[in-house]
Amino acid sequence: MSHLPPTSDDRLIWDIWEAQFRLPAATVADETGVFRALSDAALTTGELAQALSLDPHALGILLGALASSDLVEKREGRWRALPAARTWLHPDAEGYWGGFLAGMRERNAFHGQLLEAVRTGKRPAGHGSGAPEWERGEMSAEAARRIAAFMHAHSQAPALGVAAQPGWARCGSVMDIGCGSGVYGIEIAKAHAHMKVTLLDLPAMTQEASLYVDRAGLGGRMSTHGCNMFEDPWPTGHDAHFFSNVFHDWSMETNRLLARKSFTALPSRGRIFLNEILMDDDGTGPWHAAAFSVLMLLGTLGKQYSLPELRDTLESAGFTDVEAIRTGGGYYSLVSAVKP
Ligand SMILES: C[S@@+](CC[C@H](N)C(=O)[O-])C[C@H]1O[C@@H](n2cnc3c(N)ncnc32)[C@H](O)[C@@H]1O
Repeated sequence: MSHLPPTSDDRLIWDIWEAQFRLPAATVADETGVFRALSDAALTTGELAQALSLDPHALGILLGALASSDLVEKREGRWRALPAARTWLHPDAEGYWGGFLAGMRERNAFHGQLLEAVRTGKRPAGHGSGAPEWERGEMSAEAARRIAAFMHAHSQAPALGVAAQPGWARCGSVMDIGCGSGVYGIEIAKAHAHMKVTLLDLPAMTQEASLYVDRAGLGGRMSTHGCNMFEDPWPTGHDAHFFSNVFHDWSMETNRLLARKSFTALPSRGRIFLNEILMDDDGTGPWHAAAFSVLMLLGTLGKQYSLPELRDTLESAGFTDVEAIRTGGGYYSLVSAVKP
């Protein structure tokens, strides 16, 4: 048989895709002097940012990528270079790889983009992510088609993992907010025939999602709601709200706003779900989260968050009982919380 149905484990493909960030993380750290500074002293992110005139938010993301590449470690809040970095990446070391890495900078497009982000804290131009489209609060049909296609591909396996969670049996209805192609709502609806599923996104995207719904043969069982999730009121009457890869697009401040809107629209005992690839609690990895966070730094206004950060966001809106579980859908975790 040449074609197999998708499974919920696509980690091999993610590993291949995310490998592209390993080298630019090292070359940017080399060029900005991170390895020298962290060989000489153990520093907090803020101290290192100040010493090297770098943006602390972007530097924190870079340090997570370096820590999960075994080049630096974090102890009691301070970063320090590990032996491999002190031996091969310190400019004064006999074994310094600098001559080689300098040649690599020009050949890797991500080097220049990551360098700019780490120096300025601003998203580099020309990255080509979909975020600048949706940050305007509207997008063309062409942009929706392109963005839905790439997100559908990287969300297929985690959507199967989410749909397999037993808790949906006790849930009558869910709204998939920032639904993209609708892949999560579609897999939930396929696996749980009793559930009413609504897809919410910008109008151009929900139009595109309805094509995916029709292709899945679920046209009669699912509905769409096109709106701006920041500016427009949300439909009420759902037992649960589900967000996948939405909070990682925005700052913690913006996410607090989304959490508050969700809290307002949910009934008492309603649940919020955030499907995300989580950073470890101390921000040092794992690589699959740290690399994804580098991508968010280059393409969005967000990053990959840790459970403590998402807990803080959800509790600030009034949610309780925050917890996270790995779904088995690739590298993803499902964070959930309850409106009392
Ligand atoms: C990274 S994609 C996630 C898509 C899907 N949940 C997934 O995981 O495959 C973020 C989604 O949020 C949507 N979005 C961004 N800003 C929005 C807004 N103001 N109102 C509604 N949806 C928005 C985008 O259009 C996009 O589909």
